[in-house]
Amino acid sequence: MATQGSSFWSKHAIFEKHSYWLTIGILFVVSIGGIVEIAPLFYLKNTIEKVEGMRPYTPLELAGRNIYVREGCYNCHSQMIRPLRDEVERYGHYSLAAESMYDHPFQWGSKRTGPDLARVGGKYSDQWHLEHLKNPRAVVPASIMPAYPWLAKTRLNTKHIAEDMRVLSIMGVPYTEEMIEAAEADLKAQATTDADTEGLDSRYPKAVARDFAGNGDKVTEADALIAYLQMLGTLVDFKLYDNQANVR
Ligand code: HEC
Repeated sequence: MATQGSSFWSKHAIFEKHSYWLTIGILFVVSIGGIVEIAPLFYLKNTIEKVEGMRPYTPLELAGRNIYVREGCYNCHSQMIRPLRDEVERYGHYSLAAESMYDHPFQWGSKRTGPDLARVGGKYSDQWHLEHLKNPRAVVPASIMPAYPWLAKTRLNTKHIAEDMRVLSIMGVPYTEEMIEAAEADLKAQATTDADTEGLDSRYPKAVARDFAGNGDKVTEADALIAYLQMLGTLVDFKLYDNQANVR
């Protein structure tokens, strides 16, 4: 049929008789779907909706985040609240893409041996976090979380925080030259009491400055990690959004 029929069928025979042409034909047809989905992403200015309140992490929070990654907290904790009723009722508003837009690498996680931490900020006192990190059993008797007693004893290494911010700025985090230059000063100002935090406030709106680990002028790894944990999920004011949308 194919050989003696219309010219259309005789052309189609090329694909049926030559596997190379068939392969090229398949690749062409399949790629159309991919191009239609992927190509527009290169032309859109931004695939993440901007959300009011999001700002890059302060140097202290960033140092805390580095410790979170170093200690492998992501092996047991996710930072991604899914839009499912049980999760929203337990953890709060579901996570927005914009809330992890400055995370390189992101900390969504894939396992919840412990609870999700995306909105843990403000849930407990600094003192609670300090005791919990030193020995989780001291505050949650049945906890299986490992203890991290060295965090409160180890001075925070601040030497590389400016370089860290510079690398992140190359990756698209809007750290300015001014922020990078003031990195170490901002870090110390946020972790100690009575420090001048005017510069910190102007560069990082809503940055909370206090002696997180209760150790005076000393800046330990616990100061940084607690500053990071207490900030998680607090940058976007969801009351604003929920009122607008008339939800709850
Ligand atoms: C082996 C798994 C495991 C690792 C690793 C782990 N955690 Fe946990 N975490 C848990 C479990 C289980 C709980 C729940 C019991 C409790 O509160 O201690 C928990 C609870 C918490 C809570 C309280 C959350 C809430 O909403 O009540 C915080 C904060 C926390 N972990 C922070 C951390 C940090 C920071 C690290 C890394 C330094 C870390 N965890 C590493 C298992 C882990």
